[in-house]
Amino acid sequence: MDTHAQAAVEISGLYKTYDTGFSALKNIDLTIHKGEIFALLGPNGAGKTTLIGTICGLVRPTSGTIKAGGYDVVREFRKSRAIIGLVPQELTTDRFESVWDTVVYTRGLFGKPRDDAHVEKVLRDLSLWSKRNDKLITLSGGMKRRVLIAKALSHEPDILFLDEPTAGVDVELRKDMWAVVRELRESGVTIILTTHYIEEAEEMADRIGVISNGEIILVDGKDELMRKLGRKDLVIQLQEPLDAVPDSLEELGLGLRDNGNELIYSYDSTADRTGIAGLMAAVHREGIRIKDLSTHQSSLEEIFIGLLKDRT
Ligand SMILES: Nc1ncnc2c1ncn2[C@@H]1O[C@H](COP(=O)(O)OP(=O)(O)OP(=O)(O)O)[C@@H](O)[C@H]1O
Ligand SMILES: [Mg+2]
Repeated sequence: MDTHAQAAVEISGLYKTYDTGFSALKNIDLTIHKGEIFALLGPNGAGKTTLIGTICGLVRPTSGTIKAGGYDVVREFRKSRAIIGLVPQELTTDRFESVWDTVVYTRGLFGKPRDDAHVEKVLRDLSLWSKRNDKLITLSGGMKRRVLIAKALSHEPDILFLDEPTAGVDVELRKDMWAVVRELRESGVTIILTTHYIEEAEEMADRIGVISNGEIILVDGKDELMRKLGRKDLVIQLQEPLDAVPDSLEELGLGLRDNGNELIYSYDSTADRTGIAGLMAAVHREGIRIKDLSTHQSSLEEIFIGLLKDRT
């Protein structure tokens, strides 16, 4: 990779409108840092595969620029493509070659000299060594997915794209793949993965990007998102509805819901002081009578669903 490049991937002002007139990507600005694991989350049809396709030079941008490893993916396609490994979403390996041959062949396709030791390591890491002489057509879906990963790793890419790498694979294989991905990151590879599994993003990602209707609506560090995850709502059900939040409670950040029947207090459950004791004292001072209390933790999933809902 060009050692002068600041970022692994730099996207600015990217639009993609398909020939059908459908606008699949709208004004995307995104930087992927070298050596990070970046998870792209979004519902079906959000534009994840299209975005990956444009970075890999397989889908032509309508406008905007994309650089991978410092190379413009359109004008310097061969150079940028050479440093990118892509594990596609769709399995198209129903062929009669053996596992070994297809991986060796892919490496050659990217202009790398033959290196049987490297191919052996890749196959062993992915628990494919015992299958090396098997024909692709005879493999199970999960095994085929491993072969796709082996192919993507065959030419020692600097940047690896994994488009739904663990969709439809069993738990054990998913954990294996996570281990392989972590090991790759240790070796300095930048990894961009798409997933529907929030658990996977939580487990793997350094940063998370959320895409919806062709727009990136959020990019944040995983830990920052997890802090948001640590937020809880305290719901105070009232005996009698309030018309407005009393000033003394408004200062504490309380909100009113359900036609004035519920007071909501949002707090950080991981903090040393939640402020709940002071809040209850203030509620008491105001003479507000409480019917019931409950707390509610927002999950990462709810954060995302909320984000997506805000957009429609
Ligand atoms: N070749 C194409 N021609 C026209 N429209 C397309 C084409 N490819 C994708 N689209 C449309 O662009 C939108 C984004 O598709 P894309 O495959 O990028 O979504 P995705 O986020 O990867 O979804 P999924 O989670 O289902 O894989 C969809 O509405 C899709 O129908
Ligand atoms: Mg997709």
